[in-house]
This record gives sequence, structure tokens and C-alpha cells, in this order.
Amino acid sequence: MEILLANNLLKNMKSALVVVDTEGEILLLNESAGRILGVERVSEAVGRNCRDVFRSFPYLSDLLLASFRIHTLPDRAELEIEGRPSKDRKTIGYTMSPIFSDRQERLGTALFFKDLTEVELEETQEKIKDRLVSLGEMAAWLAHEIRNPLAGIEVSADILLKGETDPQKSEAARDILDEVKRLNRIIMQTLDFVRPRPVNLQECNINDILEWCLGEFLADREDIQVEKSLAGIEEVLLDDTQMAQAIGNIIKNCCEAMRDGGKLILRSYTVPSESAGHVPEAFSDHVIRRDRNIVVEIEDTGEGMAEDVMDKIFTPFFTTKSGGTGIGMPMAQKVITEHWGFLDVESWPGRGTRFKAILPMFTPKSEE
Ligand SMILES: Nc1ncnc2c1ncn2[C@@H]1O[C@H](COP(=O)(O)OP(=O)(O)OP(=O)(O)O)[C@@H](O)[C@H]1O
Ligand SMILES: [Mg+2]
Repeated sequence: MEILLANNLLKNMKSALVVVDTEGEILLLNESAGRILGVERVSEAVGRNCRDVFRSFPYLSDLLLASFRIHTLPDRAELEIEGRPSKDRKTIGYTMSPIFSDRQERLGTALFFKDLTEVELEETQEKIKDRLVSLGEMAAWLAHEIRNPLAGIEVSADILLKGETDPQKSEAARDILDEVKRLNRIIMQTLDFVRPRPVNLQECNINDILEWCLGEFLADREDIQVEKSLAGIEEVLLDDTQMAQAIGNIIKNCCEAMRDGGKLILRSYTVPSESAGHVPEAFSDHVIRRDRNIVVEIEDTGEGMAEDVMDKIFTPFFTTKSGGTGIGMPMAQKVITEHWGFLDVESWPGRGTRFKAILPMFTPKSEE
């Protein structure tokens, strides 16, 4: 009975737990630990060496083995572990405790830990939202102040153009009108970006949204080959119009980065979530479940970005294109953040770029 209780306790514990002996052999590994470290069958890991089982997180084994050489073990420490070769980065919060026998012989080390990566992501999401609110207020005010005088300039330039016979002066008036149009377009896009738009949740299929965007942006690009690997994902709650706009902006950029053609690779799949069960209050009327995350990857074989460009792509109005407004990426990030997701990007100059949108999978409440 006691053993059964202990086993169930370990299995259901939210905290992850690993125990190793002084040689690094795993004595215990619970389900949460397996999930965080990507060990599929935890029972098969017992008896094997931690170096072998946690091969993709070598630093974790270093930490466990080092625990036998130091006297005061870390308590409530944080650590960023990087997977190899995946470069998958996780922040874990951990505590280590030595385990002794009745005769005070050191038997092993217990490592209790928790994946803080998603907690960190949520903090970043909050910061992005705050920044957007203040930016939005400023931009809305500025747009309002500019729009009226701009309308005046347009009317006056139009009057000048109509009465003008000198070709040079007509040309100048026409230039003014063109520039006014360009400014108006920037203002409209800015307003569209900053205007608060409530997320209107609907049941939809993420793959349909991807397909729709492909039709929209690739119809006239026969020089781009599309490779798709889309998992069968059940319907989830999303604002399909906003999500199509976000994904569309990403796909548009990828196509623009492949001026001489190339390959666009789309993937969709689901992964377990550390925030399972946690439903944001604003969504709680609609959502019944949150247990996994959807990952959408959009990759191009285009020109890629240098690090200094990458650092700025989510900054509103940053653009390297002559006709660009620099709103596409911030808009995509805003929409994904408002769905409690996260947008990640990796790029290799001269080789291509990969965007990764991680979205919580909110499943709808039934109609009754
Ligand atoms: N797939 C990509 N490959 C290379 N560079 C990219 C890619 N996506 C974005 N960028 C860089 O990020 C910048 C910002 O992108 P963003 O979509 O916000 O604006 P834009 O494309 O320049 O203008 P627009 O408002 O028309 O979208 C781009 O100008 C480009 O330098
Ligand atoms: Mg763009």
C-alpha cells in the first residue's frame, strides 16, 4: 500500500524529480521529469547512466555528477540548459538534496526541478502587451494629428495641379499628391496595428488557415516550391481572421526573401505543454481544455538575416525594404501574443529563415 501510494505520488507530482546514485546511475525518474527532458519511457531509464539518458541535455548530467563533489548543494537555483544538438533552450528552477543511508553514507542526489521556460514566456508576453498599449496610444494620437493637416495638403495640391500649365510645377504638385498617399497608407496601417481588436474566438482548423495563406501569397510565385508536413490537428479556438493575417504576414516576408525563387516549408504539429490546464480568464467562457501546444513552422530558403536585423524585426516600423512599412512582423507577434502564444525566429544569412509560432491549443466547450 505504501509503495503504491509513493508510486502514484511520484507519477502525479507536478514537480520533476530525478535521483541518481554516486556513479550517475538513475534510481528514479518521474513522469514530469521525463516530459521536460524528452524521455519517452521513464521506467526504461531507471538503471541506466544519466549521461546516456539525458544525452541531449549534457549540462544536466554535469550538474548531477558535480553534486557529489560539492558540500553545499544549490537550493532554489535557476539554470538555462541547452539541448544538443537541438539547441532547445529550457530554463529550469531546481533544488538538489543529498540522500544518505541510515549509517550516513552518501547514496545519491535528488534533483527537484520545474520547467520555467513557459513561465518566462508569459512574463515576456505581458511585457510585449504593455509596450504595445503605450505605443498604441502614442501612435493613435500622432495619426490623428497628422491626418487633418494631410487632408488639407492634399486638397491644396489638387487645386494647384488643376490650374497649372507649367509642366515642372504640375510634376511637383503630382509628387506632393503621391507622397500624401504614401503617408496616408502608413497611417492607416499604423492605426490598424495599434487599434485594440478583441480576439474573436471561433472553432477553426489551423491547417486550413495555412492553406488559405498559401493560396493568397503563392498564387503568382511559380518559382517557389512548397513542402508541407501538416499533422491532423483537431479544431481549436482562434480568431481566424487575425491569425490568417499574422501567418500571412510571415509567409509574405518569406516569399519576399526568396526573390529568385526557393522552397517554402510548412509544418504543423502538437507538443505537450507545461501550462496545461491554465486557461486565461478572458477565454474561460469558451475554452474547455488546454493540454498541448500547436507548433506552426514556416521556413524559407531565402536571403536570411544578419543578427542586427534579427534583433529589430519585431520593432514597429523597422524595415529593410524600400516600399516596406515594418508593420508585418510586429503585427504577427501581436496577434500570436494575444492568443497566449509565442513567435520565435531563427535565421541563417544567405540560407534562409525559420519562424516558429507556438500556440496553446484551446479546445471549445460543447454547445449544450
Ligand atoms: N523571412 C525573412 N527573411 C529575411 N528577412 C526577413 C524575413 N522576415 C522579415 N525579415 C526582415 O524583417 C523586416 C521587417 O519585416 P516586416 O514584415 O515587419 O516589415 P516589411 O516586410 O519590411 O514591411 P511590410 O510592412 O510591408 O510587411 C523586413 O524588412 C526584413 O528585413
Ligand atoms: Mg513584411
